[in-house]
Amino acid sequence: MNMFTANPATPELRRPTAIFPGYMSGFGNGCETEALPGALPVARNSPQKCPYGLYAEQLSGSPFTAPRKTNERSWLYRIRPTVAHWSDFQKMDARLWRTAPAREVDMPIAPLRWDPLPMTLESLSFIEGMRSMTTAGDAGTQAGMGAHVYLATRSMVDEYFYNADGEMLVVPQDGRLRFCMEFGVIDVEPGEIVVIPRGVKIRVELLDKSARGYVCENYGGAFTLPERGPIGANCLANPRDFLTPEAAYEVKEVRSHLAVKWGGTIWGAEIEHSPLDVVAWHGNYAPYKYDLRKFSPVGPVLFDHADPSIFTVLTSPSETPGTANIDFVIFPERWMVGENTFRPPWYHMNVMSEFMGLVYGRYDAKPEGFLPGGVSLHNCMLPHGPDAEAFETASNADLKPQKLEGTLAFMIETRFPQQVTAFAAASPELQKGYGAYGRHLVSHFNPTER
Ligand code: FE2
Repeated sequence: MNMFTANPATPELRRPTAIFPGYMSGFGNGCETEALPGALPVARNSPQKCPYGLYAEQLSGSPFTAPRKTNERSWLYRIRPTVAHWSDFQKMDARLWRTAPAREVDMPIAPLRWDPLPMTLESLSFIEGMRSMTTAGDAGTQAGMGAHVYLATRSMVDEYFYNADGEMLVVPQDGRLRFCMEFGVIDVEPGEIVVIPRGVKIRVELLDKSARGYVCENYGGAFTLPERGPIGANCLANPRDFLTPEAAYEVKEVRSHLAVKWGGTIWGAEIEHSPLDVVAWHGNYAPYKYDLRKFSPVGPVLFDHADPSIFTVLTSPSETPGTANIDFVIFPERWMVGENTFRPPWYHMNVMSEFMGLVYGRYDAKPEGFLPGGVSLHNCMLPHGPDAEAFETASNADLKPQKLEGTLAFMIETRFPQQVTAFAAASPELQKGYGAYGRHLVSHFNPTER
């Protein structure tokens, strides 16, 4: 009897049902899942002998003593423990992946914007194709983040990776990806995100010819759902829409390569078997995906433009209440209905630093020049706002209810100033003179007319 699904795209990954990949619904749940019946020990974590001769291993995403609300750990029942997937690691070429602190160039005192990085003919895996645009904070103090664009043209084959420096929030912009992980398999497409906790081993396959997107590498507290306050118990990102993979494992006794990002360096070693050998697991520390199109936006229904924090999908808290290490915010499809209201984002200076990307469509504050796959950066206390075209259009619009359709932009907002990498500063995609858009805003002041 074959109790495993033979998936044509990934035949070596075995799991017990016909739906592939399989997911469990909910955010931050204590899950349990097994790819072989009875693989999970009953009522204990670490029996003298685990079923099927498996090893038990705990993966702790928080200190043991963290409060229950932030305490994260999972128990993995695996063919070999991670120490058996260890070898002599050598320093690898990190290519264009940078880690804070990394002050490679003087930080420009200007808003910056980049055209999409063009797809390359170079053979690049998801890891090899990581291009850091900004870094912030200090990974060694577990505070801050890196913001990257990835370009990928090949699947990883017998190659595995984990990131000890941070959790990775991946925002595909072009091309679908399959994340084969110790915890199971997640498929994502543009419009969805996947979050991979620190320390989780992955192999990334392309489901299309090539892939491009964004990665927020979070050195700080794990992403969680924001408080809703007076919004109440519903709307924004609802917990049931977060999907965690069911257990799946592979048995591969072949020469493989494990890369580990640790301390800002990427280390590599040859290993003899696949580390994606977790037959069952339970716990609340696991990767998950979320479809951003399931976000239920809440906004002003009579007048004014609310702060963008109302569109927070996930937040990485800091020790200071209300001051995020990172907020991940989206600007999705929504109705604009405000009466006597300037509807685009207002002119703004901010102690937080704003990195933006566009998955598809047009962003209402910058209808031209901010392209899908592009990047903008509005750093700490640098002024920004709608360009002249957006201002004139919005100031003179007939304020009927209007639906912003076919658009999905996002913002990664951090409390730390963002350092631009040398790669991003020298990139031909850096738009010359973007910061000058404000100079096209003319005075409308007339002291004789209110
Ligand atoms: Fe802003």
